[in-house]
Amino acid sequence: MIQMMCLGAKMSSPSITPASTTPPPARTIPGSYGMPLIGPLSDRLDFFWFQGPETFLRKRMEKYKSTVFRTNIPPSSPFLGKVNPEMIAVLDCKSFSNLFDMELVEKKNVLIGDFMPSISYTGNMRVGVYLDTTEPQHSQVKNFSTDILKRSASIWVSEFLSNIDIMWGKIEKDLSASGSASIFLPLQTSLFRFLTKSLIGADPANSSDIGDNGYIMLDKWLALQILPTQKIGILQPLEEIFLHSFAYPFALVSGDYKKLYEFVKKDGNEVVQRGISEFGLTQDEAIHNLLFILGFNAFGGFSVFLPSLISTLGSDTTGLQAKLREEVKQKGGDTLSFASVKEMELVNSFVYETLRFNPPVPNQFARARKDFVMSSHDSSYQIRRGELLYGYQLLAMRDPKVFDNPETFIPDRFTGEKGKELLNYLFWSNGPQTGTPGPANKQCAAKDYVVLTACLFVADIFRRYNSFTATSGSITTVEKAK
Ligand code: HEM
Repeated sequence: MIQMMCLGAKMSSPSITPASTTPPPARTIPGSYGMPLIGPLSDRLDFFWFQGPETFLRKRMEKYKSTVFRTNIPPSSPFLGKVNPEMIAVLDCKSFSNLFDMELVEKKNVLIGDFMPSISYTGNMRVGVYLDTTEPQHSQVKNFSTDILKRSASIWVSEFLSNIDIMWGKIEKDLSASGSASIFLPLQTSLFRFLTKSLIGADPANSSDIGDNGYIMLDKWLALQILPTQKIGILQPLEEIFLHSFAYPFALVSGDYKKLYEFVKKDGNEVVQRGISEFGLTQDEAIHNLLFILGFNAFGGFSVFLPSLISTLGSDTTGLQAKLREEVKQKGGDTLSFASVKEMELVNSFVYETLRFNPPVPNQFARARKDFVMSSHDSSYQIRRGELLYGYQLLAMRDPKVFDNPETFIPDRFTGEKGKELLNYLFWSNGPQTGTPGPANKQCAAKDYVVLTACLFVADIFRRYNSFTATSGSITTVEKAK
């Protein structure tokens, strides 16, 4: 199936080029936004409460017989100010890939849709993720983020493994005390130390407050910004009334943010100075961008993704753990490294399949830079300048025209030649896995680091344990490796 689609696809091209150059037949974009106020409200209740995002989108996809349609995507509330929920959903790989074409779309202020958290959360400035590629500062910040990753390379693996070791120590202790151990807090404590040391060059242990509470400070700062856009699953209608109707003021976390700011300014001075001297940022710009990359991108991303790897592995009953353990044994060498995990084909494929099946950042948005014709697999649609496109990764990554048995988790899906080809359509990083992040695009700067770190995480598990079981965020048994 994929071969048919890929005949005309360029390996590193972000857009899927059809085998034939004739565009599919034109179609008016189906769907509607409903009556003012009532349409957005009813869609919001369906999205967050009665249906949930996945069912909400699947139902409309079936109703309109189209992977492209008009719909309201929350939040929308009179108390949120001027937030326009009217969007065009793009839910197959081909239409979704338009979100990466920076000639067609712009990414100014659309990280989480038309709703943008107050810039008081980021030092009263628009940090890199809110900048479009045409804004000169985007290049400065993107290059800075690439630089801090490169500079961290010498300690990244050792810091990761030593901190993850502390995490497993704590989990084993909790497990023997109470028969089950939540991974979340030990993981976040370890991630915070690892990322702060690697990306900022600062050791949280130098400040007892940051060392003990830094990760909680980041959690609160992050949560308050995105709450209006997230389905949490607490008792309704309380969630609609208290979480999705208004934006929370920065004042609730300003004290903590100031402490983090001062910590980065003092203990991360070397990295901050690099931002100033090499990338032309002001001290304030360097620090607020570092805090965003640390807290939102890196800490936020790994806090979602690593637990999803553990849950998938720990609930597997197909013998996957034994296969991964065998590969780790054969290819792991004396010490784990990026080079050794790169050789582990099944481990990599398992990580990719987890990213496909359960993308850590499910929503991507982009605004049409100009009028253009957008194609899905079977139709072409006229898009008008200024319209907001909404991509839901979870459905695009289950596109049956690209992925065989898309609703099934197939750990070795990304092995062999066919598996490599499929990486053109793995979009978790806001771009194809075969793409290269850079100043001209908005792809995750740490695209390769994330995958390799996840591979290290998996390989390390099987050097420690023969097997383990986990249910919804908790480890329930571990059998140590002999
Ligand atoms: C599991 C971990 C991570 C996930 C799932 C993730 C995911 C993403 C996604 C989806 C975007 C695009 C957002 C958008 O504009 O729609 C993004 C952007 C970005 N990520 Fe990551 N990320 C992760 C870790 C990291 C880390 C460790 C860094 C550290 C440098 C990082 C740096 C960035 C930066 C700087 C951008 C903005 C790119 C730009 O503005 O051009 N990310 N990430």
